[in-house]
Amino acid sequence: MLILIAYATTDGQTRKIARFAADRLVGQGHGVELLNVEDAEGLDLARFDGAILAGSLHVGGYQKALSRFVTAERAALQAMPTLFLAVSLSAAGNDPEDWAGLNRCLAEFQADTGWTPGRIEHVAGAFRFSEYDFFRAWAMRRIADQKGEKVEPGKDKEYTDWAALMLAVDGWAAGLAPRVRGA
Ligand SMILES: Cc1cc2nc3c(=O)[nH]c(=O)nc-3n(C[C@H](O)[C@H](O)[C@H](O)COP(=O)(O)O)c2cc1C
Repeated sequence: MLILIAYATTDGQTRKIARFAADRLVGQGHGVELLNVEDAEGLDLARFDGAILAGSLHVGGYQKALSRFVTAERAALQAMPTLFLAVSLSAAGNDPEDWAGLNRCLAEFQADTGWTPGRIEHVAGAFRFSEYDFFRAWAMRRIADQKGEKVEPGKDKEYTDWAALMLAVDGWAAGLAPRVRGA
């Protein structure tokens, strides 16, 4: 199968997640085109048998570049098998309020873009203090404190469950069939 993986990232964790999915699928013999949504202009989605999209939550919203891409391509995306990797820190825990918030953000994203992903996988992201400026580092340290998470100054902390991600990607890809084109 030929699979598109298009991602948006602010601090790099979603890129790492997208690359992991790409490596996994290539290892299974699939063809994969991996790209940042910022570079997706002019892409013909009809070439692909399925698409994985990935983006991360920042202050309650996914990246604008992702929304723009999805809105522009929603008809093509609706017509093909898709998986949305929704990256956040809320997904790292079991707080019901956090999960309610995640579902609200996702519903807003779907309403704004008009796209209903074929499958959605919530993926826990990371604190990437090595990427943050002073203010964001301060804000994220406060969030970590509120959550009772111990973080060391300047050190990244990753919550992504790679085994769970592997299962999600494998499960989705197992259901792909070559698309019938033309006609
Ligand atoms: C400024 C900022 C705001 C964030 N806002 C949220 C949020 O509203 N909800 C949430 O669950 N995670 C939030 N996160 C956590 C990110 O989704 C998480 O760090 C993710 O790994 C970022 O992915 P990226 O490195 O690909 O940008 C926020 C992170 C930062 C730095």
